[in-house]
Amino acid sequence: MGDVVGRSGRDALTRELPGLRAKLKADFVVVNGENASHGFGLSPDMARAFLAAGADVITLGNHAWDRKEIIPYIETEARLIRPMNYPPGTPGRGATVIDAPGGRKVLVLQVMGRLFMDPLDDPFRAAQAEIAKHTMGAQGSVQAIICDIHAEASSEKLAFGHSFDGRVSLVVGTHTHIPTADHQILENGTAYQTDAGMCGDYNSVIGMQKGGAALRFWKKVPGEKLAPAEGEATLCGIFVETDDATGLATRVEAVRLGGRLSQLMPAVD
Ligand SMILES: [Fe+2]
Ligand SMILES: [Fe+2]
Repeated sequence: MGDVVGRSGRDALTRELPGLRAKLKADFVVVNGENASHGFGLSPDMARAFLAAGADVITLGNHAWDRKEIIPYIETEARLIRPMNYPPGTPGRGATVIDAPGGRKVLVLQVMGRLFMDPLDDPFRAAQAEIAKHTMGAQGSVQAIICDIHAEASSEKLAFGHSFDGRVSLVVGTHTHIPTADHQILENGTAYQTDAGMCGDYNSVIGMQKGGAALRFWKKVPGEKLAPAEGEATLCGIFVETDDATGLATRVEAVRLGGRLSQLMPAVD
C-alpha cells in the first residue's frame, strides 16, 4: 500500500485493511507510513494501529524522522523500516526478515533514490549488499523479497527494478503519491511498478489541500502551512502473487479502493 497521507488515509487504511487482506487472501502486507501524521512522519501510535489492522511491515522514506518519537520506537520494532542507505549510525534498520504463514519468511527492504532528493549513500549498492546475504525460494533463507524504492525519478526506479530483476519478488516505488500504470512482471520474473500511489484524498496536490499547495507555485513567499486534504481517501497499492519455489512473481495487479480514483480490485478465488 502506497504512502498513507493524514487522517483521511489513516482512517481508510485501518478501516479497510482487514477486509482487503481477507478478500485478496493476502499472506503479507507492506504499508508505507511516512506521511501518516498530518502529512509528515509517523507516530508510534499510528504505527501500532497499522500493524494491528494487518500490516506486516511498515516502510518510511524522506519523512522518516518528522515525528521524532519514532526514533526510540523504530529501535524496538523490527516491523518498521526506513531507507537503508541513510548514513551508518542512523537509528533503526533498512531491511527486515518477517515470518509469513506456513513457516515462510519474507525479506523487506527500503532504499531512497538520490535524484531530486536529499542525497544519501548509493541505494543500488546498499540493496545489492543486503540481497546478497539471502537466498530466495523453497530451500532459500527467504521465500520472497520485497523492495520499496522511495524515489522521485521514474528513471532511477526503473533502473533499480531492472538491476534486481530475477533476484527479488517485487520492486515497487513509493514517494510520488501518484500510481503509475506500468505494473508488470519484468523479463526475469520480478514484479515491478514505478509508483504504488498513495492512500489519501486525491482531491488534493499529492494528498495536501490544493489551495495552499497550489499557492506555493504561484507565489514564492512563505504561505500557510500545508495540511492534508480531508476528503475520502483512495487506497492505492499493488497486489502480487509469487511462486514459493522460486520467490518470483506469477501475477501483478493494481489495487485502488474508495475515493475519487477509478476502482481496481484483483479477483481472487
Ligand atoms: Fe510520501
Ligand atoms: Fe517521500
